[in-house]
Amino acid sequence: MSLLDKIDFGRVPAHIAIIMDGNGRWAKSRGLERADGHREGVASVRKVVEAASKAKVKYLTVYAFSTENWNRPQEEIDALMELVVYAIVKETPDLLKNGVRLQCIGDLKRLPEKTCGALLDCIDKTSGGDTITLVLALSYSSRWEIAEAARQIAEAVNRQKLDIEAVCENTVTEYLTTRNLPDPDLLIRTGGEQRISNFLLWQTAYAEFYFTDTFWPNFGEENLFEAIVEYQRRERRFGKTSEQIESEN
Ligand code: IPE
Ligand code: IPE
Ligand code: MG
Repeated sequence: MSLLDKIDFGRVPAHIAIIMDGNGRWAKSRGLERADGHREGVASVRKVVEAASKAKVKYLTVYAFSTENWNRPQEEIDALMELVVYAIVKETPDLLKNGVRLQCIGDLKRLPEKTCGALLDCIDKTSGGDTITLVLALSYSSRWEIAEAARQIAEAVNRQKLDIEAVCENTVTEYLTTRNLPDPDLLIRTGGEQRISNFLLWQTAYAEFYFTDTFWPNFGEENLFEAIVEYQRRERRFGKTSEQIESEN
């Protein structure tokens, strides 16, 4: 039996965010190169996008490369940037076929031209996809994003496009790169670490966190379903009492 049968389709998380960690350790444990781990990690992305579609998840955001990852050895960065191009070009026909719309968040200006070009091309081609939106977080960090939003808000106030008195939580949300996405309901981190590593700090204010020791290349369909089932066991109270939540339901 698949855990898909245990999912309550009336309460599926609309948006799942994943910190895909453990590619390097997966490779090392097999005597392989770190780049081999990243390649296997792409196969997991493919499996998990398909699984998320089956579960009727509408948005899936995956952390593929952080601002801090620019500090890795140049050889690994180069391999990762090449891998993005390869994977995007190879997968675009299937993304189109399966109704997957690609989007990107992050400081894309820092990406090599070829990588950026492949991404923009795929974003354009898949823009009509309406089964699921796959958001790649690349050269992304939450502090970068929030600082960028602060700068743009200040600029808008300066140009008298925005009234300083009107700046509120929604304003900040509107100036983030995720402005078109609902907040994640569920945040998954694979690879055993229990930290957020500068990912979606603002947006995960009320997300449910799910940590697993499974390395990302070993994470597949059933692992995603398991995380969703666990999510559905939780009570999201948003500051209210359990009794209030029960009476609302
Ligand atoms: C996550 O796997 C992928 C990226 C950060 C690009 P890691 O490369 O961090 O794998 P570990 O944590 O070293 O095992
Ligand atoms: C977080 O993984 C970033 C991505 C998964 C892309 P890291 O492996 O870079 O995180 P830290 O450095 O261990 O916190
Ligand atoms: Mg890691």
